[in-house]
Amino acid sequence: MSSDGIKTVAVLGAGTMGNGIAHVFARAGYKVILRDVEKRLLDRGLETIAKNLDREVKKGKITQAEKPAVLARIDLTTDASKLAAADFVVEAVPEQFELKTRVLKEVDVVLRPGVVLASNTSSISITQLAAQTSRPDRFIGMHFMNPVPVMVLVEVIRGLATSDDTFQTTMALCETLEKKPVAVNDAPGFVSNRVLMPLINEAAFAVMEGVATPEAVDAVMKLGMNHPMGPLELADFIGLDVCVNILDVLFNGFGDSKYRACPLLKKYVAAGWLGRKSGRGFYKYA
Ligand SMILES: NC(=O)c1ccc[n+]([C@@H]2O[C@H](COP(=O)([O-])OP(=O)(O)OC[C@H]3O[C@@H](n4cnc5c(N)ncnc54)[C@H](O)[C@@H]3O)[C@@H](O)[C@H]2O)c1
Repeated sequence: MSSDGIKTVAVLGAGTMGNGIAHVFARAGYKVILRDVEKRLLDRGLETIAKNLDREVKKGKITQAEKPAVLARIDLTTDASKLAAADFVVEAVPEQFELKTRVLKEVDVVLRPGVVLASNTSSISITQLAAQTSRPDRFIGMHFMNPVPVMVLVEVIRGLATSDDTFQTTMALCETLEKKPVAVNDAPGFVSNRVLMPLINEAAFAVMEGVATPEAVDAVMKLGMNHPMGPLELADFIGLDVCVNILDVLFNGFGDSKYRACPLLKKYVAAGWLGRKSGRGFYKYA
């Protein structure tokens, strides 16, 4: 299917990434079917979208009149059979292989044969997820960045069996969202996390070894390398548990000790210091 044939997009999961993905598709004029397992989670997702749209109105990105129209394009459902109407699907459920497999198999059987199924996974092999479905050639990675309405990049990941058609449709679709797609092949951590996580890990080692405080490490990278955020601030934003999980994927995937998660990161996770979301990580949050 070409991207012009796509009118309705299903988004699986209304969490951090799912509501952002639903937001950008609805803003670009697509009808969106947003699916989660409980109505309360869908309502919370829609509330977040409404708040983020208000922010876009203030910034002049959309007009006040556009906001209700964007929201009206989003249908909420807990019913998997409703996904049959989708022309394209993006999966954004939690990063667990078994859960993703279950969700992908469930949607695979209700979709029309030509429909592309994309996963927003940060670290699971696209080739392996594709193999769980009946459509490995129409399966692709579509790795949006957080916060989705703001970040321009979509890392588009081709699995081993991804067809040229699926690839071109997905790249063109990203452009209609005013995103910049960058194509990469399937490998542990793709490009984004393969390059970012060793940076974060090394910053954590520098703190653990007493080379510098978190503030000093972040200041060096911001003032000296022009990074908008220091690596440890960024790690707190991503979630230290998420960072450790991705480092484990890199470590296991490559069998290379350079990806060994820093013991200090693991200790913080064990203590429940997960970063912003738990109120404490490398920094304390009110
Ligand atoms: N958070 C990030 O910064 C980030 C960035 C890029 C990619 N990702 C990836 O995006 C995916 C989602 O991450 P998130 O941070 O949005 O997670 P999240 O926990 O915020 O949201 C996941 C949502 O999926 C829902 N869900 C669970 N089972 C479901 C099912 N069977 N059907 C439909 N929905 C179901 C959950 O109820 C939850 O609302 C993961 O693969 C993650 O690796 C996350």
